[in-house]
Amino acid sequence: MAYHFDTQCVHCGNHADPVTGALTTPIYQTSTFAFKNADEGARRFRGEEEGYIYTRLGNPNHTAVEEKIAALEGGEAAAVAASGMGAIASVLWTALSGGDHVVAAKSLYGCTFSLMSHQFPRFGIETTFMDLTDLAAVKAAMKPNTRLIYCESPANPTMDIADIAALAKIAHENNAILVVDNTYCTPVIQRPIALGADVVVHSATKYLNGHGDIIAGVIVGAKEFIGRVKMEGLKDLTGATLAPFDAYLLLRGMKTLHIRVPRHCETALRVARFLEKRPEVAKVWYPGLDSFPQKELAAKQMKYFGAIIAIELKGGLDAGKAFINNTHLWTLAVSLGDAESLIQHPASMTHSALSDEELKAAGISKGLVRLSVGLEAPEDLIADLEKAFEAVAVACSAR
Ligand SMILES: Cc1ncc(COP(=O)(O)O)c(C=O)c1O
Repeated sequence: MAYHFDTQCVHCGNHADPVTGALTTPIYQTSTFAFKNADEGARRFRGEEEGYIYTRLGNPNHTAVEEKIAALEGGEAAAVAASGMGAIASVLWTALSGGDHVVAAKSLYGCTFSLMSHQFPRFGIETTFMDLTDLAAVKAAMKPNTRLIYCESPANPTMDIADIAALAKIAHENNAILVVDNTYCTPVIQRPIALGADVVVHSATKYLNGHGDIIAGVIVGAKEFIGRVKMEGLKDLTGATLAPFDAYLLLRGMKTLHIRVPRHCETALRVARFLEKRPEVAKVWYPGLDSFPQKELAAKQMKYFGAIIAIELKGGLDAGKAFINNTHLWTLAVSLGDAESLIQHPASMTHSALSDEELKAAGISKGLVRLSVGLEAPEDLIADLEKAFEAVAVACSAR
């Protein structure tokens, strides 16, 4: 029987320990696994027998997380990685070869952009960064050697929404695959595989874990592809293996995903509505606002509107700096999806690897401030922002 999503969050991947009966998956803190005899070891290496070999190739704590995230994303299989970037690099190194072409969103997490834009040319891989909301332009950009379309939706940090079903169709008509970074949403909000995507990646550092105490990544997709990601990507190329203890924490965090994410989103909508009314704010990007240009598409493919908000202050960079320097409950820190609300400045922090021209092309202005709405009381978060706005007024009038 297929259980509901909430039940899957709690139970999938959790198996009572067969030796002691411990209900919570124990931490298998080991680098290697003993074989009963030489033939068993040889069979495992040949892939003829299931079983663990060496933690870079797999560990029971990995398996538990993989079973849970594969079920939640509705994919056949999953792989865990040491970070979101480890997951992304493992997917790209597995799927691409020299001479291939990638179509990618113009606005992406800074290191993903940097990997494709600054590093891939060294290996003969070309990437066209473009506005994926223009589907006719995406169709026109596809080439015979295009292997992959890559997007985040909403994008980090501009909140552009990619039409996942339409992009999957374009990818498949051109013998390519669609890879979606679902970090901002989690499967509570959006399930890209059901919309046609081939591979989903996450920075599990964020909402999946939800407690800000590990760096981790996951990859979900077809069994055959995930098998290749494990052998070619994780084992041979990136070696981005998650530590067993971190996998244990990730599994624990994911048990409450269905409770945490809706609460993050409810508070975010209240904060976004508050920000939109403030005279100091020039623009708010949040998919749940009526003013958001792609609200209809967001509502079509997302159950909630997420908990990341981008704003631009009328006073530009100086006002933005004064604002983030004067919040107290909102911690000035990169990352997102933690219980604590965070605030940061993408141009000088998460997207600092981009040149001025690249920032402009990606639609990231110098004054853009990104907020990750946590799990505190909305009233306290709003009161803290009110105080920060007062400090902005003082700082700007002093100039
Ligand atoms: C959307 C997105 N993808 C990928 C990453 C990279 O993940 P990690 O920091 O876990 O390597 C981040 C990190 O902020 C992100 O925001």
